[in-house]
Amino acid sequence: LSTPSLATSDGYGFIQCLTHKIPGELIVTPGSSNFTSVLVSTSKNSNFLTNTTVKPICIVTVADASHAQAAVVCGRQNGVRLRVRSGGHDYEGLSYRSARAEVFAVVDLANLRAITVSADEECGPTAWVDSGATVGQLYYTIAKTNPELGFPAGECPTLGVGGHFSGGGIGMMMRRHGLAVDHVIDAKLVNADGELLDRATMGEDLFWAIRGGGGESFGIVLSWKVGLVKVPPTVTMFRIPRTLEQGAADIVTKWQVVGATLLPRDINMMVILQGQQAVFQALYLGRCDEILPTIASLLPELNATESDCNEMTWLEAMAFIGFRGNTNTTALLDRNIGYNAFFKVKSDYVRHAIDKEVWPEIFNWFSMNGSGFVMLEPHGGVIGTIPAGATPYPHRSGVLYIIQYIAPWPAGDDGSTARNWVRDFYNFMGQYVTKSPREAYINFRDLDIGENKVVNDVSVFGSSKVWGKKYFGGNFKRLAKVKGMVDPTDYFRNEQSIPPLLQGY
Ligand code: FDA
Repeated sequence: LSTPSLATSDGYGFIQCLTHKIPGELIVTPGSSNFTSVLVSTSKNSNFLTNTTVKPICIVTVADASHAQAAVVCGRQNGVRLRVRSGGHDYEGLSYRSARAEVFAVVDLANLRAITVSADEECGPTAWVDSGATVGQLYYTIAKTNPELGFPAGECPTLGVGGHFSGGGIGMMMRRHGLAVDHVIDAKLVNADGELLDRATMGEDLFWAIRGGGGESFGIVLSWKVGLVKVPPTVTMFRIPRTLEQGAADIVTKWQVVGATLLPRDINMMVILQGQQAVFQALYLGRCDEILPTIASLLPELNATESDCNEMTWLEAMAFIGFRGNTNTTALLDRNIGYNAFFKVKSDYVRHAIDKEVWPEIFNWFSMNGSGFVMLEPHGGVIGTIPAGATPYPHRSGVLYIIQYIAPWPAGDDGSTARNWVRDFYNFMGQYVTKSPREAYINFRDLDIGENKVVNDVSVFGSSKVWGKKYFGGNFKRLAKVKGMVDPTDYFRNEQSIPPLLQGY
């Protein structure tokens, strides 16, 4: 397909073209009474819903594969780019807004949310899950079909499968089972020519790239086939707060190594730092009495006791994690529940434990104006044993933990104090985290680390390395080569999409 005048289209021809190919009620334009409600329906960062936000010329609420194919064909013919949205959790809002002046439409997959669990003869238990499903729906459907099965993915139940899997998918079972994408065994994708492909027809290079190379770059992934994992009938959740007076700084110092390298793979203990306290939240895949002696011997400073144990089913644990201690599992099906705020996020990885003397200084940052909170999630275990090139997610062997810095602010505030806080804190942390590149996680999207430069309507590889190496390390060039093969004119793109690297480089 050729792509005429992508820079100058007004979108009229696109909507005309679509009207001939898909039911009119699936095309939501700014003139439609429900435009704003559909636009904000799954958006998680209210920061990008202002009058000055560059919004889509229409939202295509696809209900099957042919609608997504029509959107690509009409987009290419009429000079309109597409942004794909599954769950709307992109931290920079790139699934429904553009950071630059651009004519684009949103392909919204929220109504494409079927999940089919089956016992595959070759691969064991599997599920086909549509991109518009949330991970909460996935967990619920799997466990209701067979309570002995689960899936390792993110902690927030409303995460869209489409964007979440596209960037990797870290979660509370990653030390035991790796990332969500480590379990993807097939996928259905609409490419830049509007063709519907599966693993066999897309080929292994493209199949590799979509399992962690970030959303938007390679096409519209409509559904994913994943291998499911066994979970025990009873798991244990811990949520143990410790203040600085109770030794939080010393416990975190020791946790850095213990959490990633000494605790067994069946336990994942993350830490949330806020104010002058650290909350140690852990999921153990087994009963309390099986793990408590190990925690007591490896991290005695935490002083974990039986009263800190909450035994429950794996599905209840997914609710407990998502809803901060509430185990109402049917709430996992609610797409509108949970985090919805104004915020800015940044990320780092730590490969060498930060010295004990530094932690009190780090805690100081949480008493400053605009301060938010930080989540530390241990790696090690299975996630560290998978080679860095097996999927585009390179942060594997040797990583102790990932840091997620989160700076929220209330409605009515312009956010500058919180944003300054998180940027200053990130600058301060530069001396203690990975360097050359300073690693970052694509799913914790951060436009501060760089944006694509576009020359002759194509994103340029050279300048993209600034952010690309941070997200993908040595995998960035391979991703760019795949992009060069499957979308050389750069139809699918956003401010941080993979740029095409053409043969010969
Ligand atoms: P959204 O629809 O906004 O898409 C994100 C990106 O992927 C966009 O660039 C979009 O164009 C593209 N995209 C979406 N669907 C696509 C498709 N079907 N095909 C191709 N491209 C597609 N991460 C994590 O690993 N573990 C966690 O526990 C959490 N927790 C968490 C909590 C909260 C409250 C938020 C807001 C975010 C997280 N995340 C996370 C980050 C999350 O994984 C990341 O934002 C995902 O991209 C979200 O996917 P959605 O489909 O919801 O977003």
